[in-house]
Amino acid sequence: MRPEKEEILMRTSIEAIRPRGMNAAGLNELAAGLRRRVVGQSEAIEAIVPYVELFEAGLAPAGRPAGVFLLLGPTGTGKTRTVEALADALHGSERNVLRIDCGEFQLEHEVAKLIGAPPGYLGHRETQPMISQQKLNAVASERSGLSIVLLDEIEKAAPSMRRLLLGVLDKATLKLGDNTTVNFERSLIFMTSNLGAREMMSELHDRFGLASALPSQADAKVLRGISTGAVRRQFSPEFVNRVDAMLTYQPLDRAATERILDLQLEALERHIALRLGASAFQLDLTLGARNFLIERGTSAEYGARELKRAIHRHLIQPLARLVLDKAIDAGDVVDVGVGSGGAMLDFAPKSRQVPAA
Ligand SMILES: Nc1ncnc2c1ncn2[C@@H]1O[C@H](COP(=O)(O)OP(=O)(O)O)[C@@H](O)[C@H]1O
Ligand SMILES: [Mg+2]
Repeated sequence: MRPEKEEILMRTSIEAIRPRGMNAAGLNELAAGLRRRVVGQSEAIEAIVPYVELFEAGLAPAGRPAGVFLLLGPTGTGKTRTVEALADALHGSERNVLRIDCGEFQLEHEVAKLIGAPPGYLGHRETQPMISQQKLNAVASERSGLSIVLLDEIEKAAPSMRRLLLGVLDKATLKLGDNTTVNFERSLIFMTSNLGAREMMSELHDRFGLASALPSQADAKVLRGISTGAVRRQFSPEFVNRVDAMLTYQPLDRAATERILDLQLEALERHIALRLGASAFQLDLTLGARNFLIERGTSAEYGARELKRAIHRHLIQPLARLVLDKAIDAGDVVDVGVGSGGAMLDFAPKSRQVPAA
């Protein structure tokens, strides 16, 4: 049966306001999902989610991006992870991000790569701008019309690039080399920077003697002061004024690194189940094995950045060898401990005990 004309009209007008729209339940799940995936940075998550809600409710202001965030703080503490996790939660894939590495735009003339060369310039036809309306739209999805843009290491951007960005942040438009414009009203823009991070680490070091000490609430405030101070020295007031929220990520404490290890081990088990299907196995790590990975994968300087590499090298690669050697049977639990020399992990596959009936 065909819907009545009036019904169609009504539906169309609602869709015009809330184009694809997530509902309230979906948005609650969004915040919870982000908190699960990004450990110990709830302040940042709580600041970001309302902007998604505003957009999904159809109430984001016109003529400017749906949200502009500057993510600050030490390396490896979850800044980029937050953006990936948001893309995953909103669109179902971490890849739904238009990512611009500002390190590639340190020289004045390099903005041409971003926006394409003006017509008539040598090589005009060959220059595909890195940003276009099409590319921006392509990172939205059926689930949400919000495009996520990541401008990584913004402090490296040349002044010419900063000037362009100012227009994006202020008016939500960017003029390309071919004179067309890109509209960012349906975008959340994340800029990351580790400005002030070095100063933050030495502040923590002075206070506690070791850089990995737990930051308290009061320290969080001090650290925020350091990073926002560094930003204000580096960026013009116009630029800073166009940022909706400056969010300072906290150094990871021991409990946070343990949670991150858990997340990565869970992801590894899912990967094993997915790839090996019926012949999948499970892992059981001793405390020693967990500490082994945390020691090698986390540091004050790089946060949890090296954890994936440590897991890859010390856990996944030896497991792959055991699989190739057919040393692990389907459904085994592999006990993982620290080898006798302390330089390697050691693996003991056990068939799972079937409880007696
Ligand atoms: N707070 C965190 N929660 C979950 N994973 C994290 C967190 N911080 C770091 N990681 C892990 O470390 C890796 C590097 O973190 P990333 O977000 O890229 O650091 P940065 O803050 O320098 O952008 C991530 O891919 C993730 O595996
Ligand atoms: Mg990063």
